[in-house]
Amino acid sequence: QSSVLHKFKGVIFSTMSSEELLNSLDSFEAREDDVFLVSYPKSGTHWIAKVIENIPSARITLTPPIELGDISKFEELKTYCERRVIPTHLSYSMLPMNIKQKQCKIIYIVRNPKDIAVSFFHYYRDNPNLPSIETWHEFFELFLKGDVVYGSWFDHVLSWEEHKNAKNILIISYEEMKKDPSKNIKKITTFLGLNVTDSEINQIVWKTSFTEMKNNTAKENCDPNHTICALTSNRNLVFRKGAVGDWINYFTSKQKRVFDELFTEKMKHSELAKHFGDYS
Ligand code: A3P
Repeated sequence: QSSVLHKFKGVIFSTMSSEELLNSLDSFEAREDDVFLVSYPKSGTHWIAKVIENIPSARITLTPPIELGDISKFEELKTYCERRVIPTHLSYSMLPMNIKQKQCKIIYIVRNPKDIAVSFFHYYRDNPNLPSIETWHEFFELFLKGDVVYGSWFDHVLSWEEHKNAKNILIISYEEMKKDPSKNIKKITTFLGLNVTDSEINQIVWKTSFTEMKNNTAKENCDPNHTICALTSNRNLVFRKGAVGDWINYFTSKQKRVFDELFTEKMKHSELAKHFGDYS
């Protein structure tokens, strides 16, 4: 294991998430109006965060991830006066208890796992906060085994899917967002109880397009408080291709077969599996 990583309860974390912080997650005090933006890494977290930030009537503050930093984190999170939107890559079981008790609103983002694997591979290569990886083949094996930060994609998604019918949880998919951003932005605003006009929605679609966001990274990079992913605050590492189906350029036919077999096995009771199936 590399020095930039450590294991907590069997799951790999970045050392930027201190063990002490991870150990005290249950002491986090949620507010009833908090919104949690939850995802497995590389699912489109920055994108949805940007959508929420651009809702004119939202009056929210996007905070850094709950699991980033040390124990002083909870004090820092208390200093936000506006409604907090708090990103995290935690699995359901690790999510602080108080968030569950208060039934805070949670948006869980999903993306087809083959594209996530490819996106994650590039993140590992480009991000100095992650160990270096030589080849796609090497990363593919780690991803399959869940030997990557935040653990197995399967376990993560299944942990959240169990709660997908709870009325405080909204599931948004990367692929649906791509296909029909207006419709999905509307879903988000309705879920958050916010009114937006059609022209405001069009504005949000435009401002959160991949090109627009990629072109604005230089500007936003200056703000260290604008960290959405606990694995880096460097937004230049985030906007790579922004496409659906890029996995086809990486997976060999054998890798596809091995992946599909594991997918079928792990996801046999999953309803979400059907959605991902459309992209494999
Ligand atoms: P790729 O590496 O496939 O390009 P996260 O924000 O959870 O770290 O996810 C990052 C992935 O979302 C990257 O995928 C990134 O390019 C993509 N992404 C970010 N903003 C996007 C946008 N506005 N539209 C489409 N994809 C976007």
